[in-house]
Amino acid sequence: MKLYIKTFGCQMNMYDSARMRDSLHVLGYTDTDSPREADVILINTCHIREKASEKLFSEIGRLVQIKKKEALLIVAGCVVQADGEELLKRAHAVDIAVGPQNYHCLPELITRYNRKKGRTLLADFPAESKFDFLPPHQAHAASCFLAIQEGCDHFCSYCVVPYTRGCEYSRPASEILAEAKSLVQTGAKEIMLLGQNVNGWHGDGAKDLGDLIRMIADIDGLQRIRYTTSYPSEMTDNIITAHRDVPKLMPYIHLPIQSGSNRILKAMNRQYTREEYLDIINRFRAVRPDIAISSDFIVGFPGETDADFQETMDIVRQVGYASSFSFKFSARPGTPASIMKNQIPESVKTERLTELQALLLAQQKQFNLDTVGKTLDVLLIEKGKEKGQISGYTPYLQNAHIVGDLSLLGQIVRVKITGATATSLSGEQVK
Ligand code: SAH
Ligand code: SF4
Ligand code: F3S
Repeated sequence: MKLYIKTFGCQMNMYDSARMRDSLHVLGYTDTDSPREADVILINTCHIREKASEKLFSEIGRLVQIKKKEALLIVAGCVVQADGEELLKRAHAVDIAVGPQNYHCLPELITRYNRKKGRTLLADFPAESKFDFLPPHQAHAASCFLAIQEGCDHFCSYCVVPYTRGCEYSRPASEILAEAKSLVQTGAKEIMLLGQNVNGWHGDGAKDLGDLIRMIADIDGLQRIRYTTSYPSEMTDNIITAHRDVPKLMPYIHLPIQSGSNRILKAMNRQYTREEYLDIINRFRAVRPDIAISSDFIVGFPGETDADFQETMDIVRQVGYASSFSFKFSARPGTPASIMKNQIPESVKTERLTELQALLLAQQKQFNLDTVGKTLDVLLIEKGKEKGQISGYTPYLQNAHIVGDLSLLGQIVRVKITGATATSLSGEQVK
């Protein structure tokens, strides 16, 4: 029996896909890259922007054309949570729809499924935690995700996550440590701690994320720790100083600002100002001057003037980003921003995004060029694009490739960086 998984959306979805994969392996399924030969097709969905949701329907259309007639089509993830009933109405081929807090039930839903009796929708916020029911998390690569916190209570006025992922929940430290150990025992060298507001983690057994990181760093065999995504006003000194004190914690911080205009930040219901954001960046740089800084941006939020947008451009110049993600505002059903006055025309959004991305890309290229000539540790993860190449990531999360033997995959090697583009580095292994 073969399983094909397609994942849209953020790293949390990639984590969920990994856990669903493991639980279907227990049922006897093995992986395939080909939807044509799959007996179960699982699509893990994202609802964050309109484009992300629309992709789902074209993907379902494509899969229905090529899948085996009897193959089960399962849709999981945030679209199901947001509007599972509408999804089943619109996409008749879907057999089972399961929300992000219910996927521990998937093996049972599959075993019991009977097409004649009707399709299944399970998308509630159960009292039990899915984590108590999933099989041990196995590493399938040298770098693995580990969800430590889920959900969000911030309610930014544009965002669907509080509705698709529910309220904030932090897993206890003991559970996280056990999962981290299981990952390391099965081959993980790097763990990326995940949460919608990961720095707001407040589970039992540790004071905050800073202490949790220090505890995880004690695991033998684990070589790198990362965490994402952080919310600016929840950043603590204990997390910042971990970047000075914990060698395994990588010099990289993803800290979304969204906008450089205080007026727009307020309308977005983001609980910080540009000045406070800059102060946090300075505190990171004081303890770790080389830290790579990354962010998310939204352009064309309702009411955003040219002057507001220029404040975003200005803060980008002040910070100097190593990497970034930037988006046009997308009006999402049910969010306050979707019905605000002064929606920005698509053409203006496009212009602003182009201008912002040109600056961000130039900064990213400069950041990469600045590492040419240095020798960096690279965790090799996968085959490179060209024959004979293998590639992985530097401490600053730059993609880097070398010519080398596949046997090096999963190892950290010293690499002298010899070339850089905006998106990747090339180098030679230093013995
Ligand atoms: N919790 C994280 C972000 C999660 S969503 C944080 O607060 O920073 C990932 C990114 O998608 C956001 O940072 C934001 O830049 C973008 N995003 C979310 N909703 C959006 C919308 N309605 N339109 C455009 N971009 C959006
Ligand atoms: Fe969405 Fe804001 Fe929560 Fe991030 S902090 S997930 S943008 S509501
Ligand atoms: Fe998308 Fe859900 Fe992640 S909406 S961005 S998959 S939390």
